[in-house]
Amino acid sequence: MSRTKPTVVLTRKLPDPIETRMMELFDVRLNVDDHQFTQDELIAAIAECDVLVPTLRDEISADVLAKAGPRLKLIANFGNGVDHIDVAAAQSQGIVVTNTPDVLTEDTADMTMAMIVAVPRRLVEGAKMIQDDTFEGWTPTHMLGHRLAGKRLGIIGMGRIGTAVARRARGFGMTVHYHNRRRLQPELEAEVEATYWESLDQMLARMDIVTIHCPHTPATFHLLSERRLKLMKPTAYLINMARGELVDEKALIRLLKDGSIAGAGLDVFEHEPAVNPKLRGMKNVVLLPHMGSATIEGRINMGEKVIINIRASADGHALPDRVLPQRL
Ligand code: DGY
Repeated sequence: MSRTKPTVVLTRKLPDPIETRMMELFDVRLNVDDHQFTQDELIAAIAECDVLVPTLRDEISADVLAKAGPRLKLIANFGNGVDHIDVAAAQSQGIVVTNTPDVLTEDTADMTMAMIVAVPRRLVEGAKMIQDDTFEGWTPTHMLGHRLAGKRLGIIGMGRIGTAVARRARGFGMTVHYHNRRRLQPELEAEVEATYWESLDQMLARMDIVTIHCPHTPATFHLLSERRLKLMKPTAYLINMARGELVDEKALIRLLKDGSIAGAGLDVFEHEPAVNPKLRGMKNVVLLPHMGSATIEGRINMGEKVIINIRASADGHALPDRVLPQRL
């Protein structure tokens, strides 16, 4: 990277304080009207910038990267997940990829907990009743849902977000179980009072609510396949705040329809931003538009991380949030 201000292209509008600070520090091309970059715009950007700041909606494949100009040294992703970037191809071209971990953890865990409450307690169905003006008064059998206290929560992927969900779930009186590639350190496992399952299949079959918090990689695509979804109890609920590709969505819809799974809370979709229309009319699902981490504070924290990574790169320091290619 040159010693002059690096040229930084933002593919979307970022919070004002972040854009303003970036303008002070770098030679920035803002996306003032906040439109989604076309592939051509993306290619034009990487052909001439030092740093690209994309979001999860920018598909940065090996083909796109092949068109990168000699100046491109850093892709400072505004977001945690990097499944839209071919990190291995970037690395082989000497382009570093960074992300914004940690700062989304608590917000995403809060929304996961909101889903864990909303689905069994029929929160959205109830709110709709008021909106539709169909509420005719309280009765003992009106809008009954299911209690959370005493239920078993199975967390798939016990990283930062999974652990933050576990802490919250304990506060709601739930029993925490988890499946993870690696077992937690004993102290942390004891702190969140979590039971480890080496076998995901075994855990799935016994949980009342399952929530998934893995990154999307080739190895986790359809981790919840039709076979695995069928292992869940017919009274169980599934929450997905991570990535749509982790769940076989068509199979999930079939199982929700025939009552093999009791309900689902989905903040992400397999073909996002498209939402399968079959999900829309279902009473036993809560659907949100990928807003798990959407707080002003979180977005500013993410922007600050992006700035720190760009500064570290420009100054020749180790990058705090460097992402390495996933080992499968
Ligand atoms: C991310 O950063 O990957 C999240 O999905 C945004 O909520």
